[in-house]
Amino acid sequence: MTKTIGLDIGGTKIQGAVIDENGEILKTYRLETCAREGKDKVLENISKIIEFLKTDEIEAIGVGTPGFIDSENGIVTFAGNIDGWTGLNLKKELEKISGLPVFVENDANIALVCEKWLGAGKGYNDIVMITIGTGLGGAVYNEKMGLLSGSNFQGAELGHIILHPDGEYCTCGQSGCAESYCSGTAIVRHYEELTRNELNGQEIFKLANDDDENAKKVIERFTSDLAWFLTSLRNIFDPQLIIVGGGVINSKDFWWNEVLENFKKYCHLSDKIEIKSAKFLNEAGVIGAGRIAMERLKNE
Ligand code: BGC
Ligand code: NA
Ligand code: ZN
Repeated sequence: MTKTIGLDIGGTKIQGAVIDENGEILKTYRLETCAREGKDKVLENISKIIEFLKTDEIEAIGVGTPGFIDSENGIVTFAGNIDGWTGLNLKKELEKISGLPVFVENDANIALVCEKWLGAGKGYNDIVMITIGTGLGGAVYNEKMGLLSGSNFQGAELGHIILHPDGEYCTCGQSGCAESYCSGTAIVRHYEELTRNELNGQEIFKLANDDDENAKKVIERFTSDLAWFLTSLRNIFDPQLIIVGGGVINSKDFWWNEVLENFKKYCHLSDKIEIKSAKFLNEAGVIGAGRIAMERLKNE
């Protein structure tokens, strides 16, 4: 049975796992990304993970990483959330480190691959996925066309759709992107702007649940902005299904119903679509990355 390593490079953590053809995780290892310490440090952490997971049985490595990814050549053409990542030939670097074939994809695309294979997207042909975490990732899949990548590998970057013209600054260089309103980072920043306190997302959700006025304001804004965002996605793509994943899904009990209610109010075709939360919370990245390594190895 083919075994691969799947690597999920997040804004805060890098997770690696050995995956088999059934999507079983056989071994896993995780380190901090150290995204603000520059690419050498991040690559050093990746090498440690590969070293820990690699055996003679491993045939290839798949990688999911945030940013605009030229997945044909394995080059990160732009990444705002990891310092030094822009311009990096990640395929070449990791093939040198590991001695194995390496395949690189955008992190949200990878999450969709996992959900389509084994999760919320199983059996659907036409799927849009967003991942809400440090950033706001997007992926668009259609059975006939595969993953949408665009003409510059910058397609399906749904988090950079403008939600509020002239709005808040985004790491991509634009202002008013959905990512500046519907991400874990945005929740933390909005709460800090109101209170001068830096809490993490989960703490803010809990406070809102305990009727803290400031936290409630922040979460209300999040659930409203996210519903507007989903409305536009439905209207652009008309998919069968939108999957919502990413780290913020861990706290979904605090906000999910609110978002769906808002969506029904805002979207005039809300009954024409299903919206589901991702099945895989922390493992989508490594499983999806392991999967694309298997698929692309066969097609080489
Ligand atoms: C990046 C995307 C990425 C998303 C989630 C965004 O800032 O532009 O490429 O998928 O964050 O990590
Ligand atoms: Na994407
Ligand atoms: Zn942006």
